[in-house]
Amino acid sequence: MKLIVTGGAGFIGSCVIRTLIRTTDVSICNVDKLTYAASPEALAEVSGSPRYRFERLDICDGPGLAALFEREQPDAVMHLAAESHVDRSIDDPAAFIMTNLVGTYTLLAASTAYWRGLPEARRASFRYHHVSTDEVYGSLGDVGAFTETTPYAPNSPYSASKAGSDHLARAWFHTYGLPVLVSNCSNNYGPFQFPEKLIPLMILNGIAGRPLPVYGRGMNVRDWLHVEDHARALWQVLTRGQPGESYNIGGNAERRNIDVVHAICDLLDELVPDPQGSRRRLITHVSDRPGHDLRYAIDASRIRRDLGWVPQETFETGLRATVEWYLANEAWWRPILERRYAGQRLGLAGAAAPADKVQEKMP
Ligand code: NAD
Ligand code: DAU
Repeated sequence: MKLIVTGGAGFIGSCVIRTLIRTTDVSICNVDKLTYAASPEALAEVSGSPRYRFERLDICDGPGLAALFEREQPDAVMHLAAESHVDRSIDDPAAFIMTNLVGTYTLLAASTAYWRGLPEARRASFRYHHVSTDEVYGSLGDVGAFTETTPYAPNSPYSASKAGSDHLARAWFHTYGLPVLVSNCSNNYGPFQFPEKLIPLMILNGIAGRPLPVYGRGMNVRDWLHVEDHARALWQVLTRGQPGESYNIGGNAERRNIDVVHAICDLLDELVPDPQGSRRRLITHVSDRPGHDLRYAIDASRIRRDLGWVPQETFETGLRATVEWYLANEAWWRPILERRYAGQRLGLAGAAAPADKVQEKMP
């Protein structure tokens, strides 16, 4: 199989590429614009493979995509390229609209034009896999879980742009017959995650003895999945999923943010004890994210039942391995902190109060 992966220099895309080069005989062309979030270093292990190549390209570039499809003659597309950070979407939604909506449209259009020109058998086996998020479903109360039929109710500029892109993918299946698969996954964590996200930010701040900024009271719940389990699930969806269907992917690992931060503190205290005392002392409750979704939880029964996928990591094993990875890979994250993102608070533009000054200590 020849596969085009978009966003393959990002956190999840790079894990997908490493996993597939290691465990399958697929050939991959990685299409990535290399934004601030990209990490070519995460692809070092595959860069020498004859089955891997890289193409620097913006998915909003229609002619560039058309030429790429002509050259590569792919059997499938797995689309992960996106602006992915909710806080940045609050500060500056424009890039989210461009990449997540216009970029997805441009990629669908280029894929469809190419797919229509394929001979019958290759047209039938071609797959277009749109990778999305559980945030499109909005926020849950204390009970229940998102299923594939939960109505869409996105609340942030990020999730609204992803919801729109899911609808475009769905429409291209129904209107043009493009063999589209959609998957919606919960929060990922693991190696090479950019330190703007909760888990790597808390690990790196904890290592440095800096404050650990917990939004609000830390009672918001996320459903965590190790990125390698997600990569395995995506391969199952791409190769065995039913076109026109969507698949929820989640690790059945709901945790309150405050409990995640406590667990990270405790792991750091065990692995690299701090003479000044437990890292829990660094926890600082800061003003909440505007429009902060309370709870996400995934019902992953469809992918378990229909495709036989189950996660291999528990949150406890996965989090320990992740903390150990960040401790062992300062050479990867130090230059990012120095040159691209120093850990400052994001996502307060438009908030009613000068919220980064608010520091409510938890009782
Ligand atoms: P990421 O931010 O780490 O990486 C995104 C990649 O896309 C980067 O390499 C970037 O350079 C590239 N990119 C951005 N704009 C582009 C453009 N216009 N053209 C080409 N490339 C471009 O993101 P991630 O966390 O790896 O997420 C990957 C996908 O999975 C996204 O679609 C995201 O919505 C989805 N998702 C993420 C999570 C999560 O927890 N991280 C969970 C569910 C779904
Ligand atoms: O649910 C899937 C989504 O998970 C993906 O679609 C997104 O791409 C991904 O970024 C992630 O979104 P979240 O907003 O849930 O992830 P984030 O790591 O930004 O935040 C996780 C939780 O932690 C959330 O409730 C906000 C909170 N938080 C986050 C940061 C960065 C804090 O309390 N403090 C922080 O400093």
